[in-house]
Amino acid sequence: MSNDGLRPETIAAHALKAIDPATGAVVPPVYLATTYARNENYEPLLPENYQRGGNPTLWQAEAAIAALENGTECLLFPSGMQGIATIVDTVPQGGHVVAPDTMYYGTREWLQHLAEKGRIALTLFNASDRDGVAKSVIAGKTDLVWIETPLNPTWDLVDIAAAAEAAHGAGAILAVDATATAAVTTRPLDLGADIVFHSVTKYLNGHSDVLAGALVTRTVNARWQEAKALRTKVGAPLAPFECWLLMRGLRTLFVRYRQACANALAIARHFSNHPRIERVLYPGLQTHPGHDIAKRQMSDGYGGMMSLLVKGGFDNATRFCTNLKVAVPATSLGGTETLAEHRKRVEGPQSPIADNLVRISVGIENVNDLIADFEQALARLPG
Ligand SMILES: Cc1ncc(COP(=O)(O)O)c(C=O)c1O
Repeated sequence: MSNDGLRPETIAAHALKAIDPATGAVVPPVYLATTYARNENYEPLLPENYQRGGNPTLWQAEAAIAALENGTECLLFPSGMQGIATIVDTVPQGGHVVAPDTMYYGTREWLQHLAEKGRIALTLFNASDRDGVAKSVIAGKTDLVWIETPLNPTWDLVDIAAAAEAAHGAGAILAVDATATAAVTTRPLDLGADIVFHSVTKYLNGHSDVLAGALVTRTVNARWQEAKALRTKVGAPLAPFECWLLMRGLRTLFVRYRQACANALAIARHFSNHPRIERVLYPGLQTHPGHDIAKRQMSDGYGGMMSLLVKGGFDNATRFCTNLKVAVPATSLGGTETLAEHRKRVEGPQSPIADNLVRISVGIENVNDLIADFEQALARLPG
């Protein structure tokens, strides 16, 4: 069935018209087979007949995500980090990579590890400098510009169109980690990016029960073919049942995401002038340094992610998390339940993140229950 002209909400709600052609089942079957028989002429029936190269459930989930991102093809991996590692693996030996100094710490630490080993040359630019990408690319040398927007966990914005122009001007590609905007509020390929990445573990699956990553490309070129071949060679396609769960989660993406956005905005406004909160970091607040870019680049809500700088420093930030009764003190983001995490404790003393920053992944609960929960957690802090 064609999806031409369908709007993203419709694509997600049907998980790309995944009706089983053999039976008419509205929910697609899950193909668990690792191997597929050849026909009487010894020809395979599918493009790949061994699961390491792909399978029908994987292709269905990939087609849905590619359509949502307005991309050409998608590759799904068993974790977000595996997807990141694969695209970084396509950088030539010694190639120059540019990335922000504040971003998901797992990506930053992986890039730093590769730079220390001499595999890549790395420039980390000041994430709050709007000209950071333009100042860091080296014409003819930079191969990959990696950005994240909004940046985890300050939720500062990077202007995707400007970053694409700077990257392309230097002969590099731009890859965007859009995990926090989940194909709902921002579509990086439409703004000039070459690759969009998601930790599918977060909003796209949305139920804290699948670990997965996605790369989506605007064009199928030699680099993309290399990434695809690498995935097959190292054996890293997402397993069929996880793909099926992901399609199940994807069907409610827009309603989940929009509710999380509405809850987050209400919470951000409520705690903005709170006596026990030093600052709320949320791109939907006019006081946020990235608000002007967010207004342009996030078309349908400012996301469900925010951070609270809790007065009383490191210890109070931890206590705030353990005082919560509705929100869960746990890592990750993008699920239906609200999660709170004291980032400095997780990232360690070398992290540039403020000691008192608590990252909140706002869920889809009744927002008044969340506000009351945060109030009681703050009221029980010493000082
Ligand atoms: C923004 C961002 N990018 C990448 C990742 C890595 O994804 P995964 O945990 O699925 O490997 C995460 C995980 O927290 C993330 O938050």
